Amino acid sequence: MPIRTPIFHPPFNVVRASHVELGVRDLAASRAFYVDCLGYLVSEETTETLYLRGVEERNHHSIVLRTASEAAVDTLGFKLASEDDLDRAVFWFKGKGLPTSFPQVPFQGRTLRTVDPHGAPLDFYVRMDQCERMLQRYAAHRGARIQRIDHINCFTPDVQTSYDFFHEIGFRLTEYTETDDPDPLLWAVWMHRKGNVHDIAFTNGRGPRLHHIGVWTASALDILHMCDVMATCGYLANMERGPGRHGLSNAFFLYIRDPDGHRVELFTSDYLTVDPDLEPIRWSLKDPQRATLWGHPAPKSWFEEGAAFAGVPVRTPALAAQPIVAH
Ligand SMILES: [Fe+2]
Repeated sequence: MPIRTPIFHPPFNVVRASHVELGVRDLAASRAFYVDCLGYLVSEETTETLYLRGVEERNHHSIVLRTASEAAVDTLGFKLASEDDLDRAVFWFKGKGLPTSFPQVPFQGRTLRTVDPHGAPLDFYVRMDQCERMLQRYAAHRGARIQRIDHINCFTPDVQTSYDFFHEIGFRLTEYTETDDPDPLLWAVWMHRKGNVHDIAFTNGRGPRLHHIGVWTASALDILHMCDVMATCGYLANMERGPGRHGLSNAFFLYIRDPDGHRVELFTSDYLTVDPDLEPIRWSLKDPQRATLWGHPAPKSWFEEGAAFAGVPVRTPALAAQPIVAH
């Protein structure tokens, strides 16, 4: 279970996790959930597709919802620092023997589409159309007043392989969970580029699958307000876990499910991780305060349910270690 020395000069410079594209079966139901209830801003809307952003976001979108026959995930998007970085990324992925293509993506500049070692689709790009700054248009803030995308969390059938891969392209480990075996194995990792706990996390489970997107709210009070709103406007069953305080990351959270089961985490108040000598924090899988500082275990659905990537086979992990589950 090697924890590796961080790489500060990676082969190309990823700035941050940027966006996700989700397949949804009923776009009107998704619009009611994301826009009318959560308060996402609509940047563009067609009969087939919704492009959404948070109130802080200058990027055209951080969530794309596309009508599909299945609620699969189309791609995970990452912003790079420059076109030179994009050239270097193409070279690096080709060198690894991974597929590369350059789809025309609306509202987005030159885009590299590739995959991680388990086949999860990844888009790397530099430029996206920019939208009006709404951060100080407070009258337009509604619902959870979601500010921006914070992170992407995936199930992987092999945490070590996912960790090694993202480590190599410059993602730095902040916290991790391992088994208590004499020779411990990684069960989950949290890795960042932008300077807080994570841009991407991986948890042991049937994968590759998307577990959730984490979206930043201005305060914990916005999350508590969302609980009151969802409980009284027909979304009671869509609240899956929380509100609570994570042990891991220290963030205040609420996990909710959209009409297709895609999971969104309202997330705020983690911490700064830019120091080069930051030591990753280890958690035991058996620590009752790992998932929730207040000791409440997560439900079974949280450990088992996620969204497959379109056309990508899902594998069962070799590691069978059991987390603490609510009964
Ligand atoms: Fe999360």
